[in-house]
Amino acid sequence: MSDKDHIDDATPRSRDRGTIRGARVAPPRLRADECPIEAMYEEHFNQRQLCADMDVLAATTKPRQKLARRVLINLCRDLPAHFADEERGLFPRLRARALPEDNLEPTLSLLARQHEVANQAFTLLVPALACMANGALPAPEDRAALRRLASAERRHLIVENAILLPLARMRLTEDDKRALMAEMCASRQTLPDAHAACTDALATLPGGAQDGTDEVAG
Ligand SMILES: [Fe+2]
Ligand SMILES: [Fe+2]
Repeated sequence: MSDKDHIDDATPRSRDRGTIRGARVAPPRLRADECPIEAMYEEHFNQRQLCADMDVLAATTKPRQKLARRVLINLCRDLPAHFADEERGLFPRLRARALPEDNLEPTLSLLARQHEVANQAFTLLVPALACMANGALPAPEDRAALRRLASAERRHLIVENAILLPLARMRLTEDDKRALMAEMCASRQTLPDAHAACTDALATLPGGAQDGTDEVAG
């Protein structure tokens, strides 16, 4: 996948440096004074990189331990935190502000259902990813599962970038945004509710839930 493919039309650039922060999947550093909607666009950009990483793992013919570790950590740590920000923070606020003509409810139902399906899929993948992080090659069914999850996540991001976040930009008030950002910052101070499978898998990794950022996809 080319660099161009990693760049979404709606991809924001770092407010600090004018550069794209999502070139690697690092946990986004949130600031209380930034816009939560722009922060979510940036997290989506990182998630597109995660999808690319999953596709690389699905096709690999050699062990990719660091890449598997990074995918595992992102699926166990960053994605659950992001889903929680949306479901507990963004969706209710947007529901309260949306106008009837926004026809928001079907979109929120679809997105919540997609979160559920993704949660189930990545929970099933965690043990295999832990094996890959320890040097195993993916089994054929793991390759298929990685590709399915990457495709589903890309479809999810399209809906959120095209419908959800533009509507949030229009409808949320400044107070809504401040409160949402404060919640997102606070949630990053604690680990998200981890699946037992994640807890077990992360415990097997030397260094715990630190990103393996020295191996890039491709
Ligand atoms: Fe999202
Ligand atoms: Fe989402």
